[in-house]
Amino acid sequence: MAFEKVCNLEDVSEGEALQIETFEEAIAVYNVGGQIFATQDRCTHGDWSLADGFLEDGVIECTLHWGKFCVRTGKVKAPPACDPLTIYPVEVRGGEIFVDYEAGKVGE
Ligand code: FES
Repeated sequence: MAFEKVCNLEDVSEGEALQIETFEEAIAVYNVGGQIFATQDRCTHGDWSLADGFLEDGVIECTLHWGKFCVRTGKVKAPPACDPLTIYPVEVRGGEIFVDYEAGKVGE
């Protein structure tokens, strides 16, 4: 397990998503009611950033074709997306957000 700092907690407001380019592939970090989650940033349906989408009740909506994913599990919640997102372990320590990129796994 190799957690790396990706941003500060204050960088991601509640109900918002942030694109992070620290790793080989961009990830998106989400603040859902104060809980932090991380997934791959690229939509599994096309080449589009999910961090630019709409986050509501823990579901991110892609703004290209309106596919939806659960940011906790990576599960598809609405078509046309059909493949789940890769999700990453997150830790929040002292106002800083850390992600273990290598431990990412494909969601449900
Ligand atoms: Fe995201 Fe099509 S690119 S739903």
